[in-house]
Amino acid sequence: MEEDIHTNSSVPRIAVLVSGRGSNLEALIHAVKTQQLRAEIALVISSKSSARALDIAKAAGIPCEIVSPAQYPSRKEEGLKIVELLQTCGAQLAVTAGYSRIFDPCVIEAFRLKIINIHPSLLPAFAGSMAPGPQKRALESGVKISGCTTHFITEDTDAGPIIAQRAVPVMNDDTVETLADRILEAEHQLLPESVQMALDGRVTVEGNKTIVTSERSVYAGS
Ligand code: GAR
Repeated sequence: MEEDIHTNSSVPRIAVLVSGRGSNLEALIHAVKTQQLRAEIALVISSKSSARALDIAKAAGIPCEIVSPAQYPSRKEEGLKIVELLQTCGAQLAVTAGYSRIFDPCVIEAFRLKIINIHPSLLPAFAGSMAPGPQKRALESGVKISGCTTHFITEDTDAGPIIAQRAVPVMNDDTVETLADRILEAEHQLLPESVQMALDGRVTVEGNKTIVTSERSVYAGS
């Protein structure tokens, strides 16, 4: 019998925060199903009730919550609700995948180095805006290589310790859309891999850098 992805209690629980299309959420769900990511997606939190990502989560049978800024008198109240939801669902790690809100510091404090973000550029280049802003700025700047970055969220937007990056070429005839699509394909591989590395305890933070141990040396005990 096929095991339901959200009733497997022997694997770490994660939560995913979204605001829009949800293709990275879809990649995480796929990685769980194919056991490339050994985790249970216990909860999806959306900042928008209209997010397509919610349909994707529901179709996969994942519990969903909406925490939209309009529901709360302050960013702090919104943040406290997010902390409560993350703690209640037992998430060891949270992932922001196309999440358009900046966290109140109370979220970052409660989940220090336990929230992974994916950003569609090679940080620190083109930090600080939502897609397709970073891809548009990459094209306008004339860089020949762009890509995506996973990093831990800290108080400094898009500037927390980098976990992993993947580069893609920028072509002469690229539009924002073609470049964004090429980067997105890389995101869909990088995000589940990064989450797995963090869950495996293979990402050590030193200052604002990480040391990532390869799978082989972890299993070899070195
Ligand atoms: C992705 O390209 C992601 O890297 C980006 O939003 C898109 C979400 O797509 N995130 C940011 O720009 C964060 N600053 P998705 O909803 O299909 O996963």
